[in-house]
Amino acid sequence: MAQEKLDRYDVLILDSISKIALTSARSLGRAGLRIALGEADGQYTEGHEPPSWRSRYCSRIVKLPDYTSDATAFADAVVSFVREHGVRLVLPSGDATIAILAQHRARFAELGCALHVAPDDALEIATDKMRTLEVAAKLGIEYPKSVTVANVEDLRAAEAQFGYPFVVKPSISWTGQVAERVHPTEVINEEEAVKATDSFLLTGCEVIAQQLASGDRISISFFIHKGEVLAHAACTALRTTPPLGGVSVQRVSIPVSGELLQASENLVTTIGLEGAVEVEYRCDAKGNPLLMEINPRLAGTLENAMHTGVNFPLMIWQAAIGEPVKPVRSYPAGVRTRWLSGDMRWAWDSIFQYGRPDTVSPAKSVWTFTSEFFRTRYYDYVDLRDMKPAVAEMRDTVGVIYQQWANRKQWKEAGGSAIYISEANEKSK
Ligand SMILES: Nc1ncnc2c1ncn2[C@@H]1O[C@H](COP(=O)(O)OP(=O)(O)OP(=O)(O)O)[C@@H](O)[C@H]1O
Ligand SMILES: [Mg+2]
Repeated sequence: MAQEKLDRYDVLILDSISKIALTSARSLGRAGLRIALGEADGQYTEGHEPPSWRSRYCSRIVKLPDYTSDATAFADAVVSFVREHGVRLVLPSGDATIAILAQHRARFAELGCALHVAPDDALEIATDKMRTLEVAAKLGIEYPKSVTVANVEDLRAAEAQFGYPFVVKPSISWTGQVAERVHPTEVINEEEAVKATDSFLLTGCEVIAQQLASGDRISISFFIHKGEVLAHAACTALRTTPPLGGVSVQRVSIPVSGELLQASENLVTTIGLEGAVEVEYRCDAKGNPLLMEINPRLAGTLENAMHTGVNFPLMIWQAAIGEPVKPVRSYPAGVRTRWLSGDMRWAWDSIFQYGRPDTVSPAKSVWTFTSEFFRTRYYDYVDLRDMKPAVAEMRDTVGVIYQQWANRKQWKEAGGSAIYISEANEKSK
């Protein structure tokens, strides 16, 4: 009987390599739940295992098949684990795992397990940036001028509309046609634009050329239950790595104007999203927020929400098991969180890529990086009651910096871009 209990896990958190998984495991582990943390082969390498696996709240490590080569085997393994261990909630936080598991949702329902993935119709819109922007247009929400591009002529049409530099991005972040999830990139001339467009076309989805918005990045996370918004938490990402389109490395919680909040709520509920959802904006030079996209999942800024007292993973659990979810109506502004390894990379990028969009001068980057130590209290991974993940992440980072230093000749020849953060760190969004 005791053995049977030990073999049961309340929650299987996927995408263990991400910081979202660690934050979720800590939240749900502290709520007294037994947590299993799963990750697919290919998302980590030996010696660079997910730091979340070192957490005291990780009761079980689940090594899953590589979804980039066999998505069905991955889904089958998740379903088997759920069946064998009585899991009540599966919590994916990656674009790829969400897209894959959505196709198997009936199998989880049969087992009485909640899968934290938005309904199919809503997911289809929210994971496709072009379709999201179409809904936004109908609701009167502003977004950057955007055109679909497939060849040089289209890119010239985009240049005529808004000029270089602009942003090129795939409409869908993960389609399964290329192994890696792809990210937006800024382009400063036609040569770069053609290269980016060609590489994004390989994913098999539409490619968007978009006017560059140069202002603040605003992220608003929501929790929606049965069509009702029960909580939100917003922050601005002060720095990201890579400087454009990357992971936030420094955030600060902010109040959101009633108008922006209402528009965002309208957007997510019109689309029919459920559960944890993030709406991202970036302001133009005049400070007007322009919609970037919706992420139908927990956001990379989750750590910031947690420190403002908005516990999204717990809400997901409560909704999953049919418990009442307590709404959160306010949170404090000015709470700062920082991902130190990511900020090191940001400083490095700024020094060596100075002049490109979204970079600052080397002197300013050194000052920003250093003075941040006096402003920020909370660091990603660092939790005095659960320090092993932070130690593992730092050890990884130091190891990679050392390796990079040893390979510095090659690095200089490659143009000096910021590649010193390990692959594991790269994926730790
Ligand atoms: N047109 C743009 N102008 C300026 N910055 C942009 C633009 N498009 C994207 N970005 C920057 O890149 C970030 C990520 O872009 P976007 O949300 O479109 O792609 P994503 O890869 O799906 O991102 P995420 O990792 O948040 O899911 C934006 O939040 C913004 O900071
Ligand atoms: Mg996205």
